[in-house]
Amino acid sequence: MSNNIVITSGKGGVGKTTVTAGLGTALARRGVNTLLIDGDVGLNNLDVALGVENRAAYDMADVMAGKCRVAQAILQLPGMPLYIMPSAHAVDSGQIKAADFRALIGRLGGSFDYILIDCPAGIEGGFHRAVSACEYAVVVTTPHISAVRDADKVLTLLSGYGLRGISLMVNRVRGDLLVRGETLAPADISRILRYPLLGIVPEDDEISVYAQLGRVGAAEGAAKTAIDMAAANILTGEQRIYDPARKYRGVLGAIRAGLRRRA
Ligand SMILES: Nc1ncnc2c1ncn2[C@@H]1O[C@H](COP(=O)(O)OP(=O)(O)O)[C@@H](O)[C@H]1O
Ligand SMILES: [Mg+2]
Repeated sequence: MSNNIVITSGKGGVGKTTVTAGLGTALARRGVNTLLIDGDVGLNNLDVALGVENRAAYDMADVMAGKCRVAQAILQLPGMPLYIMPSAHAVDSGQIKAADFRALIGRLGGSFDYILIDCPAGIEGGFHRAVSACEYAVVVTTPHISAVRDADKVLTLLSGYGLRGISLMVNRVRGDLLVRGETLAPADISRILRYPLLGIVPEDDEISVYAQLGRVGAAEGAAKTAIDMAAANILTGEQRIYDPARKYRGVLGAIRAGLRRRA
């Protein structure tokens, strides 16, 4: 059976879709059979980030309504065992029941090593639907107080689901601010929230540009390296964490941080 992981957050716009697409790509590049599911019924960010939105003839709602076979609603990305089931575009989020969604994920579980579900923003029905289909959760936050506060609320809700594992991904961390102590440190966020870090992802324009081009998997910058490390942690159970402050330490680092401040 697959390992099912929901990628969630309290606050919207912190990087759930980017992290889901990035982790999926990193797992699949290691030969791991991975299915990504867009839990955001009504919107379709994940297939846009991966550039497959025009290839989708059927979606999750069509499968549930019996309009197509499951395999017809799953697209493979080129060159690796990465698959995506687009979210339901034409239906209302409320029409997809948690029990039906869970049953669908259960059916798919025999065919994949990992199923990652990009959770919709907020803590409404879509949240419950996505979380109740998973045994693991990754909570994405940024090092901003409002995002951490919302992550805390979501963690409280998640603790009621009896999940097997919950970990944190701190996204958009600026190493230059970190060395100067001008941003919340991910280690402190982990301590405050009382959950372990799965990864730290630096602020990186490249991943943002590639996401907008529908090519998250093609990004090669620091964020990609960091997400790769997090994917390896998922597979090995280790906790190797990217250090976004490294290149800003020492004399050269101080110059880099100074230049960044002027940029
Ligand atoms: N590490 C990062 N560095 C720079 N931009 C990022 C990073 N992570 C996400 N973004 C950008 O932030 C915005 C929101 O990310 P997204 O993944 O869509 O968030 P969510 O799914 O939580 O709403 C997007 O424009 C995305 O490209
Ligand atoms: Mg999203």
